[in-house]
This record gives sequence, structure tokens and C-alpha cells, in this order.
Amino acid sequence: MRARRSCLAVPGSNPRFIEKAQGLAADEIFLDLEDSVAPDAKEDARKNVVGALREGDWTGKTVVVRVNDLTTQWTYRDVIEIVEAAGDRLDCVMLPKVQDASHVVWLATLLGQIERAAGLPEGGIGIEAQIENAAGLVNVDAIAASSPRLETLVFGPADFMASIGMRTLVVGEQPPGYGEGDAYHYILMRILMAARAHDLQAIDGPYLQIRDVDGLRRVARRSAALGFDGKWVLHPGQVDVVNEVFSPSQRDYDHAELILDAYEYYTTVEKRGAVMLGDEMIDEASRKMALVVAAKGRAAGL
Ligand code: GLV
Ligand code: MG
Repeated sequence: MRARRSCLAVPGSNPRFIEKAQGLAADEIFLDLEDSVAPDAKEDARKNVVGALREGDWTGKTVVVRVNDLTTQWTYRDVIEIVEAAGDRLDCVMLPKVQDASHVVWLATLLGQIERAAGLPEGGIGIEAQIENAAGLVNVDAIAASSPRLETLVFGPADFMASIGMRTLVVGEQPPGYGEGDAYHYILMRILMAARAHDLQAIDGPYLQIRDVDGLRRVARRSAALGFDGKWVLHPGQVDVVNEVFSPSQRDYDHAELILDAYEYYTTVEKRGAVMLGDEMIDEASRKMALVVAAKGRAAGL
């Protein structure tokens, strides 16, 4: 699995931001051709993105390009121009506003053809699917099962809220008047279940109040607590908070490693399945939970 705690959106039309992104600590950078690029700038943005992929230094990062969605006239050229010219520098293509499995299948087929024509390793380029409307959520299981290229399901809250008529203008925050609960819980859980049922990563979308770092931390903690693997960031000032929230704390990481060591010892040496570790009963299910935390901690370099 590629690292995706923080996934930084960078407009493909902005060479200065593209340059700056290379020095930031985001796990994933996605160069955007969709909603952060004005219609008249789409063609130039493709050229910028190809140049940035070819000449930039993206070492250690998950490198993704977001193309336009399938209802537009741009998608096929986005994919062809980017992948033909720079497919060897690309980890994934992100497809926005996926509504059913056929969207992903279309992209997977096109990627396969370009890979063959360009002499790239077959199946090498992965897909990230954004779930950003009611149709996408209703069909999320079939989308999750649609292609072996699929690596992540990504929640797109801005488009999603618009599509279902949720009454708020503040992306990532609760709609005013909703009361105590979490209006996003069902959507997040639905995406997470589909992702986990098909061994995909689940990524939460952006928080648009760029200067509100506490708000970002609060919202990020919610999806991290559910089990999400990461979250989008839109600004350099959001990267460290999100990396921190989606990494286990040192304390939890150390505890997870302790559970793994203790469990290994008791099951292999003493041949017992459920044992006490201090005041805590641990068994095979505890080992699995500890493995999740330990894997995230090791990936974060703890
Ligand atoms: C992201 O694409 C969103 O719509 O929130
Ligand atoms: Mg969107």
C-alpha cells in the first residue's frame, strides 16, 4: 500500500505551486486538471503537468494526476496526453465524480491500451476513485470491485454536499441546524466498508477553512478514528497536522508492538491463545488490531 496520510491537491495550472509541492512533506501529491483549473486553462495545465512529472523531483511521494470527470469533453485527452508523455513517472490517475463501475472500467481499459502502446509495464498505473454524489455512494460496492487497478476510494465532500442538497457552505463542517450528530457518519462508513471489503485505502476529502488548524485537526481525527488512511490537504499549512493525525501516537505504536511481541511469545512458547498483558486481556483479535497500528506506525517511521 502506498503512503497516503496527507494527499496534497496542486492545481495543474499553477507552476509555482507545483514547484513548491516538491519540497513539502505530503505523502501524496496530486496534480489537478479538474475543479481547481479553469475551463480555458485546461490545455495548458496538461502541458504543465507533463513537464512537472518529467522534470520534477517527486522522490518518496505517491504521484497522482486528477483528470476531469467522464461527463466532460476533457477526460480522454487528459488521460492520453498525461500517460503517453509521463506514464512512467505516475503512480495513479484519480477519476472524480465516479458514478458507477463502468467509469472505472473505462479508465482501466484506456490505461491498458496506452501502457501497451507506450511500452509501459502493464497494470502499473493505479486508479483512485472519488465518491462525490448520491449515485457514486449507492454504487460504491460495485465501484470498489470494478478493477484490480483501483487503490483508493476518496470522499469528495464539496461535490457530495452539493449533489445531495446538504444545507451548508462550509466544506467539512456539520450543516447548521443538524444538531449533535455527525452528518457525515453514514457516508464515511459506507465508503470505508466498501474500501475494506475490497482491500482498498479510504481517503477523506478536504477541509476548506485553511487557517483553522484546530478545526482541521478535529475533523481529521474523526475519520482517522473510524479507520480512514488519510485526508486531502489544500495548503502547505495543513500537511503536518494531517500527517500527525493519521499516524499513531508514539505511545499507541509502542503499545501495539508490545502486544505483538507478547502475543508471539505466549502463543509460540507457552502455546496459549488468550493471555494477560498487564491488566489487559489479549487474544488473536487484539493481535490483528495491534498489527494495524504497528503497520501505520512503521510506515510513519516511528
Ligand atoms: C473534492 O473533490 C470535493 O468535491 O470535495
Ligand atoms: Mg470534487
